[in-house]
Amino acid sequence: MRVGLLTGGGDCPGLNAVIRAAGRRVMTRGGEVVGVRDGWKGLVEGLFEPLGPREISGLLPRGGTIIGTTRTNPFKVDGGVEKVLDTFRNAELDALIAIGGEDTLGVAARLYEEHQFPVVGVPKTIDNDLSATDYTFGFDTAVSVATEAIDRLHTTAESHNRVMVVEVMGRHAGWIAVYSGIAGGADAILIPEQPVVYDEIAEALRKRHARGKNFSIIVVSEGTELPGLEDSGELDAFGHVTLSHRNVGETIAREIESRTGFETRVTVLGHVQRGGTPTPRDRVLATRYGLKAAELALAGEFGNMAALRGDDIVAVSLDEATAELKTVPPEWYAVAQAFFG
Ligand code: F6P
Repeated sequence: MRVGLLTGGGDCPGLNAVIRAAGRRVMTRGGEVVGVRDGWKGLVEGLFEPLGPREISGLLPRGGTIIGTTRTNPFKVDGGVEKVLDTFRNAELDALIAIGGEDTLGVAARLYEEHQFPVVGVPKTIDNDLSATDYTFGFDTAVSVATEAIDRLHTTAESHNRVMVVEVMGRHAGWIAVYSGIAGGADAILIPEQPVVYDEIAEALRKRHARGKNFSIIVVSEGTELPGLEDSGELDAFGHVTLSHRNVGETIAREIESRTGFETRVTVLGHVQRGGTPTPRDRVLATRYGLKAAELALAGEFGNMAALRGDDIVAVSLDEATAELKTVPPEWYAVAQAFFG
């Protein structure tokens, strides 16, 4: 059996660990592994890379993806879907393991549904916003990077009596903000799922300062809706609004400083959250996902995704996995709120 491996969307720590694990399992069962370069673009344009035992070794600690990634959506490319189907057939592939988030797996789900394309999925994203799995790999590393940053900002905030605003990624889900904010002891956490009222935040910080705590940490998720903030309307190939220029951190800092008079600084963590080596937890999760995806592909159980349920790795349908975004429920936010102000 010839199995293609593809990584799509934003990269994240653990992609190479999946490639290693899936590759190992396919090879030990007598199959062949082919890397599809640069996400779905590789299947539109026929970009391949043979992956043998040498190529897939030494990958566990390595960040990024050795086969490259793009945000190409074949459904938005002229004749893109036909090209994907032709390229796949011409390369004599029998199965594809697509490692990606909502967008990459959304394409996989449609190709399976509409063309019986032999694909299985692996849930990747630092945003942790995929339904049908408890966690995506990459999330733990992003939370760990953000938490370390918050810890470091704490000491300098305290020395200077400042408010520190930390902007984290997460797109339309506040998971990274909530987890790193709770772990780092943030005094306010702002996420897309919750409305923002500047006066309430300012009041909470004033009370805190009145108690003798002359510094504060505010964690804000990049996709947070702010009063008066209009999105530019710039869309990517999957129709998502580009969030990188929203400047939510700067806006909040300005509003808080003008209301409280407390000196405020901003740190935007950006792609640091996605780079570098995966945490042990992400390496293990990625490894388990890779093995499961290979088994599903070898058994011809297409249209499924490897998922974490409790402590078990199970198969769920790609349809279920991509039906809706998993956002932060109010009870999770309440855990964070218990420590605000
Ligand atoms: O989906 C992962 C993610 O890192 C989001 O958190 C972020 O909004 C987006 O990708 C950034 O995308 P890009 O790498 O294209 O700037």
